[in-house]
Amino acid sequence: GEAKLLTHALARHTLTDLRSVETEQVAFRKGLVKLGRICGYEIIDGIMETAYETVQTPLTETTGERVVGMDDVVIINVLRAATPFVEGLLKAFPRARQGVISASRDEEGGMDEEGAFDIEVDYVKLPEITPEDTVIIADPMLATGSTMATVLEYVREMGDPARLLVLSAVSAPEGIVRLDEQFPDVDVLTVAIDDHLDDDGYIVPGLGDAGDRAFR
Ligand code: PRP
Repeated sequence: GEAKLLTHALARHTLTDLRSVETEQVAFRKGLVKLGRICGYEIIDGIMETAYETVQTPLTETTGERVVGMDDVVIINVLRAATPFVEGLLKAFPRARQGVISASRDEEGGMDEEGAFDIEVDYVKLPEITPEDTVIIADPMLATGSTMATVLEYVREMGDPARLLVLSAVSAPEGIVRLDEQFPDVDVLTVAIDDHLDDDGYIVPGLGDAGDRAFR
């Protein structure tokens, strides 16, 4: 599906903090939480619908507005770098159901000729997905797309939601193209599309290894 840029100025500002090599562990983790919250608000503002309803103020009756579907949101945390990112997302979607999946690249095996990594899946706990759901799969980095393609296979088995969204902070063009080819009905939301992948499959300029920077 389409790749959409999340263009909130504070998202770009916070991503710049995350990119900086000067940002140490605590600030990096807090930055991911903040970015998750902003991205959550952006998803609500740009993608979800609102409906009018009558509300009684202390003075009079008037027309108010509410976001539709806030009770039908599923957030999938792709361990481990997504954990602080999801913490922020949950501030925007406090009643979301959550899934967890541990999927990581076999770095020792390296990238194959097609630019893909083997993915090790260690733990999967996903909720049932209903046709009303908005499903957000969160991972701060979309590089080759190997991790996300694997995660999407598992998520697909849980049901067919109204919307299936991949949310990343930084994406490489290679990963976006791959997901578009393999999953044309999935939309990728990202704060930045970077230049390229290096020979080790790192996003350039990127922000380094988000998992290591947040957890080490
Ligand atoms: C990083 C990142 C993504 C994945 C992206 O995780 O958080 O999950 O790589 O790369 P891909 O698009 O080429 O698959 P990593 O495998 O380093 O695991 P970690 O989050 O546990 O550090």
